[in-house]
Amino acid sequence: MGLLRPSLVMLLVLIWFFWLPQLRAQSAGSTRAALDALLQDYAYRAFVHPRTGIPFDGVVPSNPGINISAMRLRSGSLRSRGVAAYKEFKIPMGVVVQPYVERLVLVYQNLGNRSSIYYGLPNYTYLAPVLGLLAYDASNLSAKNLSELDIRASGLPISIKFSNVTLVPNGSVAKCVWFDLHGFVNYSDVSSGNICTTFQQGHFSIVVESTATPSGGGKKNNTKVWIIVGSVLGGLALLVLLGFLALWVQGYKRRKKMQQMEKAAEVGEALHMTMVGNTKAPAATVTRTQPTLESEYVP
Ligand SMILES: *[C@@H]1O[C@H](CO)[C@@H](O)[C@H](O)[C@H]1NC(C)=O
Ligand SMILES: *[C@@H]1O[C@H](CO)[C@@H](O)[C@H](O)[C@H]1NC(C)=O
Ligand SMILES: *[C@@H]1O[C@H](CO)[C@@H](O)[C@H](O)[C@H]1NC(C)=O
Ligand SMILES: *[C@@H]1O[C@H](CO)[C@@H](O)[C@H](O)[C@H]1NC(C)=O
Ligand SMILES: *[C@@H]1O[C@H](CO)[C@@H](O)[C@H](O)[C@H]1NC(C)=O
Ligand SMILES: *[C@@H]1O[C@H](CO)[C@@H](O)[C@H](O)[C@H]1NC(C)=O
Ligand SMILES: *[C@@H]1O[C@H](CO)[C@@H](O)[C@H](O)[C@H]1NC(C)=O
Ligand SMILES: *[C@@H]1O[C@H](CO)[C@@H](O)[C@H](O)[C@H]1NC(C)=O
Repeated sequence: MGLLRPSLVMLLVLIWFFWLPQLRAQSAGSTRAALDALLQDYAYRAFVHPRTGIPFDGVVPSNPGINISAMRLRSGSLRSRGVAAYKEFKIPMGVVVQPYVERLVLVYQNLGNRSSIYYGLPNYTYLAPVLGLLAYDASNLSAKNLSELDIRASGLPISIKFSNVTLVPNGSVAKCVWFDLHGFVNYSDVSSGNICTTFQQGHFSIVVESTATPSGGGKKNNTKVWIIVGSVLGGLALLVLLGFLALWVQGYKRRKKMQQMEKAAEVGEALHMTMVGNTKAPAATVTRTQPTLESEYVP
């Protein structure tokens, strides 16, 4: 009974250790999907008097650092003309929507200072906010939790011109990063210092490897690494400690039992008494018999 509790705790600690990374990876995907659904809802609310081809800025009450916008388009017009400028995005002609809808809404997201919270990338530092471009069906402008349509550039790629890129640290190379809607991440070259291109929708930014920046941007990541290392070491120490505690409790119990028995034996010897169950009875035997340690109960 006494042994059960420490081993149960150890089991729980072990389970926590092995499952934590998987749980976190899973929750990142669902957190992003939930954010996309929330931002779709808030972006659609910006359409008070919807007009085609005009961006409407929305408000995200729960996240003041995030900017969103929504633009309604006919899919035929998107394909034949594109959109010359939608915030940082430039959409050329030839973009095809699947499955077919008559009108679609392009939701723009600028995650601002929340970028690394929702799109944390180990070993990379963001030089620009994460921008999102996602397509939804426009047939019901009060619909919530819509699933994204698939848009693909069939000719020239969609380009993204980041307006406020942090200076690239000396000796490191900036890269465009693209997150698709299923958790896939891909990197490509930055052109003209601040332009990225894509053939599909998703989330985009410019990053630099943080291992190449020992100061500045790397500092925050370093503390993160230390927090992780610290908690892992702390957890391991706790594990070892719990193990020792369990052993010690076991040992302590055994020692205490032995001590009691030895005490009883000494007392018995001094007074010529021996333990009989819980009651002490005079041992009037002529030959001194040593009470055995192992058998507590003498009938
Ligand atoms: C992010 O920006 C918003 C508005 O610009 C501000 O209210 C919020 O405190 C900022 N959050 C962080 C973590 O910097
Ligand atoms: C969001 O929009 C406001 C107003 O247009 C602007 O001042 C702010 O810089 C924008 N935030 C981001 C992260 O782009
Ligand atoms: C980050 O960098 C470390 C050391 O360079 C490496 O061991 C680790 O696999 C990297 N993590 C990812 C997700 O690339
Ligand atoms: C639009 O979506 C809202 C919310 O899901 C729903 O209540 C409403 O009935 C829908 N309207 C139409 C015309 O489908
Ligand atoms: C949103 O839709 C997904 C499936 O498309 C569903 O699993 C999820 O429960 C829905 N969420 C809400 C809040 O309706
Ligand atoms: C540009 O980035 C800097 C630092 O990240 C920030 O302080 C500034 O508000 C940003 N400006 C705009 C217009 O977003
Ligand atoms: C980067 O390197 C160049 C020369 O290689 C130097 O002139 C410049 O001052 C350096 N900038 C920083 C921020 O260290
Ligand atoms: C990932 O990016 C590289 C270029 O950096 C490109 O060659 C490759 O096709 C991309 N992969 C996918 C699946 O888009």
